[in-house]
Amino acid sequence: MNFDTLVPGKAGLAGIDADALLVVVVGSKAPAALEGPLAAPLAEASSAGDFSFKAGGLLYAHRVAGVKARRSAYAWAADTSPKALRKAVAAGVALLKGGGTQHLAVAIAGAAAPPDAAAAQALVLAVHEATYVYRATKPSAPAASKLARVTLVCASKAEEAALAAGLAGGEAVAAGVALARELANRPANHCTPAYLAEQAEKLGKSHGLKVEVLDRKDCEKLGMGAFLAVAQGSEQPPKFIVARWNGAAKGEPPLVLVGKGITFDTGGISIKPAAEMDEMKFDMGGAASVLGTLRAVAQAKAPLNVVGLIPACENMPSGRAVKPGDVVKSLSGQTIEILNTDAEGRLILCDALTYAERLAPKAVVDIATLTGACVIALGHHRSGLFSADDALAAELQAAGDAALDPAWRMPLDDEYDEALKSNFADMANVGPRAGGAITAAMFLKRFTAKLRWAHLDVAGTAWRSGHNKGATGRPVALLSQWILGQQKAAPTGAGAGASPSPRRGKKGR
Ligand code: BES
Ligand code: MN
Ligand code: ZN
Repeated sequence: MNFDTLVPGKAGLAGIDADALLVVVVGSKAPAALEGPLAAPLAEASSAGDFSFKAGGLLYAHRVAGVKARRSAYAWAADTSPKALRKAVAAGVALLKGGGTQHLAVAIAGAAAPPDAAAAQALVLAVHEATYVYRATKPSAPAASKLARVTLVCASKAEEAALAAGLAGGEAVAAGVALARELANRPANHCTPAYLAEQAEKLGKSHGLKVEVLDRKDCEKLGMGAFLAVAQGSEQPPKFIVARWNGAAKGEPPLVLVGKGITFDTGGISIKPAAEMDEMKFDMGGAASVLGTLRAVAQAKAPLNVVGLIPACENMPSGRAVKPGDVVKSLSGQTIEILNTDAEGRLILCDALTYAERLAPKAVVDIATLTGACVIALGHHRSGLFSADDALAAELQAAGDAALDPAWRMPLDDEYDEALKSNFADMANVGPRAGGAITAAMFLKRFTAKLRWAHLDVAGTAWRSGHNKGATGRPVALLSQWILGQQKAAPTGAGAGASPSPRRGKKGR
């Protein structure tokens, strides 16, 4: 899909040459700016009670006299904030995406303030969200929308320039979200650890990432005893994926993303109940979001170094599977008593976090569908955000709010750590049920003493259940916003790649 901008000619909106025209109506009455042929249907519908200037206000009109576009729709928005615009555009596009619509023009009428780049970005994400169809294993699915071009109508050349940047940023993020959704929606018999590794390599080739895949032997040599303990019950060989975007100079410390890549979580010997177990194919949602974010970062050609680490394996019961009470040695050297084999995410993440140390990162964020307890705590709207670093937590929280992919900070007090005491190892992998999302984060924290680290628990946000079951692509928007925001904050003057970090004297290894 292509996004562009347009300042209409003398004929105004009515003269725009597109298949469909979406008018986003802002405010409590028909906008004065909406003159000519487009005013009549709106005026008539609102006096007949068929359109109201409040939430849910939506109208379709066919072949409006004097309007060049065959199909028109009006969708109400409270204002031109990203959030309001996203809602209106999603509703409007749902009306117009079908049929033969290939070219859609979107105009905003009645706004006190023109939309900004963030609103333009939200518009792009809303269009993609409204037109996404999963087809990979469903040939009978409705054909993907023919929509190929979306034109955002602007009032002036200056507005055009400002919004074009938002559209381009939105397209990069939307492509990342789409990749994450595609990967996470794939069933586990298709999306195996090897498949994830292949997809990472494919992304590397198409988008200029350096991708390295460690297999079981490599991980054994390194000493990733916790990761391999989870993997040992499965016939599917584990893969540890290292994907690098080198957008800055070699010595520039990278941002590191660590994604939980459990391609199916049965619970292992601590097996899960049958109901809804199919949804555990989404347990690689963290990994999918890392690849999606790398795609967005690469497409945006961010002048930063970013590394994605993905421990990928299945959690299966078998004669070779790890058993409750087994003690394993993590890459960090700390030993772990695996009291519950269903708390496997933290076991694969802890070795990846230790691996991250060797990259001398600026910051590390792990993303994981880690605990059912996080879903109980926060529901499906906000992801759980954990960090001992106030500044990093604030950055991520702000990025999530700005990108409409919000998170909420949860505590990490030392007191919670006592739940992980074990008589047989340095720590147990589970505590009691209460505060389960926090004890999971406390477990990870034990592997991050040398890192500036944050953890996102996306168990409640990475996918939807019920009749709309499917991956959401979250938190790609949050992560992309955070990473792409760093390039503005970065003190590098000379663009991509030239100058070494002035903040760190040490060379990266
Ligand atoms: N992948 C699950 C977490 C999960 C469960 C996410 C349900 C979304 C919905 C994770 O591996 C898990 O099983 N966690 C356990 C931890 C417990 C054994 C301490 C859980 O949340 O029940
Ligand atoms: Mn589990
Ligand atoms: Zn899991």
